[in-house]
Amino acid sequence: MEPGQVAIVGSGLIGRSWAMVFAAGGFKVKLYDVAQQQLTSALESIRKQMKELEKSGFLKGALSVEQQLALISVCTDLKAAVEGATFIQECTPENLELKKKIFSQLDLMVGDNAILSSSTSCLLPSKLFTGLKHVKQCIVSHPVNPPYYVPLVEIVPHPETDPSTTERTYALMKKIGQSPVKLNKEIEGFVLNRLQYAVISEAWRLVGEGVVSPADLDLVMSDGLGMRYAFIGPLETMHLNAEDAWSPSRAVPVYVLGG
Ligand code: NAI
Repeated sequence: MEPGQVAIVGSGLIGRSWAMVFAAGGFKVKLYDVAQQQLTSALESIRKQMKELEKSGFLKGALSVEQQLALISVCTDLKAAVEGATFIQECTPENLELKKKIFSQLDLMVGDNAILSSSTSCLLPSKLFTGLKHVKQCIVSHPVNPPYYVPLVEIVPHPETDPSTTERTYALMKKIGQSPVKLNKEIEGFVLNRLQYAVISEAWRLVGEGVVSPADLDLVMSDGLGMRYAFIGPLETMHLNAEDAWSPSRAVPVYVLGG
């Protein structure tokens, strides 16, 4: 996808961070919200953040702060916001009925080329997009807060999403410096939150059974596992570990079996 125009629907925490990511990538960004005050505050916050990033040498992209800011405009008219956009990233509150209403409005406004993408943290694509005329162009692009600083984006298709929509979204995310991962099918919690909840669930169990104190449990992650996982994932870790210590064919690790 050539650098072009994107529309961000909802200018809260996530919407403004996406706007910064796209502007850093050289894209024109139209930021839409129902509340003018939110847009004013979003622009102020984006300017402040960019200036601070520039001062500390962490501003993304090849353009200056002023060049990036010039790419971002705001709008309270949804139709005008999405006109000419090839990618629309919805960032409204996590409310199924609200998001369905917005996607049904967008469905009537876009042509056959624009991608309709949602930032939703946990609503399944089949709940959000089923029945839309442009369902083939719909996808979830779930960021991690805040997307400017944390690159991962989970790309989750609806069962009817066209593979080209997934590929275009993946390529776009790469182009703007994010780190996209593709889910082959939708699942509750996507991948990040499923992994997160598995860790949280075991943490509760170990603390609840009095095995370790809450403070020490957290240290195991912050000064141990977390440091490793910042560089390599669990599967690569297992690959590098002692042979046969873990096996995908085993439901439980060897230490539980006394091996
Ligand atoms: P937020 O509450 O900060 O911002 C929501 C924005 O949507 C507000 O500016 C509000 O005025 C606007 N809005 C409300 N109704 C609207 C409408 N009909 N049309 C256009 N704009 C409307 O919410 P936040 O945190 O930015 O979350 C947005 C989405 O991103 C949610 O789906 C959330 O689950 C997802 N998300 C949030 C993360 C987080 O840590 N905050 C992380 C990853 C995803």
